[in-house]
Amino acid sequence: MFLNHGSFGACPAPVFEAYQRFQRELERQPVEFLALERRLPELLDAARERLAAYVGASPANLAFTTNASSALNAVARSLDLGPGDEVLLGDAEYGGMQILWAYVAERTGATLVHRPFAELAPGPRTRVVFCSHVEWTSGRVNDVAALCRLAREAGALSIVDGAHAPGQIDLDLEALGADVYTGNCHKWLCNLRPSAFLYARPEVQDMIEPLVISWDFHAPSFPERHRWQGTINPCAYLTTPAAIDFQAKHDWPTVRRRCHDLLAAAELGLEPLTDDYVQMRGFRLEHPDPPELKRRLYEEHRIEVPVFESAQGWVLRVSVQGYNDEADLEALRVALAAEL
Ligand SMILES: Cc1ncc(COP(=O)(O)O)c(C=O)c1O
Repeated sequence: MFLNHGSFGACPAPVFEAYQRFQRELERQPVEFLALERRLPELLDAARERLAAYVGASPANLAFTTNASSALNAVARSLDLGPGDEVLLGDAEYGGMQILWAYVAERTGATLVHRPFAELAPGPRTRVVFCSHVEWTSGRVNDVAALCRLAREAGALSIVDGAHAPGQIDLDLEALGADVYTGNCHKWLCNLRPSAFLYARPEVQDMIEPLVISWDFHAPSFPERHRWQGTINPCAYLTTPAAIDFQAKHDWPTVRRRCHDLLAAAELGLEPLTDDYVQMRGFRLEHPDPPELKRRLYEEHRIEVPVFESAQGWVLRVSVQGYNDEADLEALRVALAAEL
């Protein structure tokens, strides 16, 4: 039973086949495929334009990145912060990004201020507001548009971590109002790994240095400056349209609703961390040895479900994707009843 799409999930067969077609083409003549003066820019532009339309962004404001972490690293490490500056963050931010912000604070002398999402209120010293659109612990969908407005009024830069958003919630990035937004396409959009994007409003694009400085560093446009990060396999970027097409063809709003309803109906005997979720929901876990419980769920009950420690304590997080059904959640219910 696989209930951890939120970490890494399977991609649909037609998307994988599109990936293999690109991969074969690449290997047939790698220079023709990868060189900046040959096919790559055109291929990337076509994929980026489809992605931009899907997330409601101008293509000029969107760049492919390998993952949300690299997008946020590029942004956070470009900021000109100093002592006295405050970075305001949610209290349920992804662990890797908390480490990133701690690093930035240590290097610059800026202060980190953690608050629950509902209490995030930028003040006179706030230079940056950072929050998740969908929290990795609880699955809660935050009203980031309202917070981005507050940040703008306070003269602070808003950075939204939408790692779990594309595919799980409909996006209209130009309307949302974040200065900077990142989303993973390799999570809920069901594209191959690695594929993600960095969105930035035109006013802040020049401030963001590419994570890797190389051939495209002096390019005139934002997407181009972040394009060549050394040699990578770009095939997953190129299958983004196939993933979008797959979800459109299979009436994804209905799939999402079915997943949500399955999760809502699951009687796991645990206290949920939120009621505002879509396909992923975290539950508070009271157990003397959570890592042992996780091991037993996987090794004895054959259930892949994450158990981790967060600022909210120990959490068991359940993800429901199109390939899941009642039997998966029933298996989890039975296993938890036996173990708890
Ligand atoms: C909220 C959040 N932000 C960022 C990330 C990092 O994503 P990636 O590993 O694709 O960079 C994750 C990963 O699960 C996440 O949950």
